[in-house]
Amino acid sequence: MLIRLRRGWEIPERLATPEDVYLNRRTFLQALGVTGLSTIGALMGCNREGQSQSATEAPPPPIGLPTPSATANLYPAKRNEHFTLDRPLTDEPIAARYNNFYEFSPNKQQVSRLVNAFQTRPWQIEVRGLVKKPQTFAIDELVRRMPLEERLYRHRCVEAWAMAVPWTGFPIKALINLVEPLSSAKYLRMVTFNNPEQAVGMNDDTYPWPYFEGLTMAEATNDLALFVTGIYGHELTKQHGAPMRLVTPWKYGYKSIKSIVRIEFTDQQPPTFWATLVPREYDFSANVNPAVPHPRWSQESERLIGTSDRRQTLLYNGYGEFVADLYKT
Ligand code: MTE
Repeated sequence: MLIRLRRGWEIPERLATPEDVYLNRRTFLQALGVTGLSTIGALMGCNREGQSQSATEAPPPPIGLPTPSATANLYPAKRNEHFTLDRPLTDEPIAARYNNFYEFSPNKQQVSRLVNAFQTRPWQIEVRGLVKKPQTFAIDELVRRMPLEERLYRHRCVEAWAMAVPWTGFPIKALINLVEPLSSAKYLRMVTFNNPEQAVGMNDDTYPWPYFEGLTMAEATNDLALFVTGIYGHELTKQHGAPMRLVTPWKYGYKSIKSIVRIEFTDQQPPTFWATLVPREYDFSANVNPAVPHPRWSQESERLIGTSDRRQTLLYNGYGEFVADLYKT
């Protein structure tokens, strides 16, 4: 995600940073070894892809895998062959070292180095709001009850980089069926964990932690919408959002909220993290659309990470056959 908090009016007043907090943050950033020009980069958000972060270095062994859990034996899950790609899969070590997860760092290449202390078990997910059967699931209990499958999906970040990944997960509608939403439920609101001791980036109070996102019920029940618990045939790694994240491949990646702890059914459109921070640059829908430029760059093409391949961006990231009907007026 690229943000540039240049002017006071671009962020809500409650997000403006008092001097003492700024000084504390500076100390904290210095402790991370982020100083001078790179401090400015960190405060403004991550660097523009391709500027100083290369994803093409020699790949190290896979990293970020949590201690195997009680459901580790469910991976790899059977692949659903219905979902095919128009491009090669991204190499796992490349995807594993190029992550947007601001709770750890605004620098994509730092995230995987900062996730070691992150504890993804025990982990509970609370489902509440306008449902007949609100309940709290232990993650392994939930995963065992869900129909896990592997899908090859394209992923398009709003910053114009892209990858192709084998996710393992289950359709959101399988979970929705368990809790039985009321007819008044129109939206899902999802929230990430909140633990600055384990996630060092959460000490940066420029951001309105914890991360929050939302979908309409029609989007959440679409065939493509997945809750993901695995990647590359094993459990989800920490930097990709263990133990459970959202994946909606027709939307820019910022929709795909990681490490979810709460799902709430509501009748009001929920606020979302980036649209709260920078409303003129990010919106609720987040649908991939090459014809609508980001205010600061074009969305017409995308760069496949780990390669020099640049491709034309497709409307709905190429998933129009599944989702275009959702947006017909
Ligand atoms: N979820 C949380 N909680 N925090 C984040 O910073 N970044 C989003 C999304 N989900 C983010 C998040 C963005 S901008 C992108 S592009 C994807 O995660 C990146 O997913 P990946 O690191 O698995 O490629």
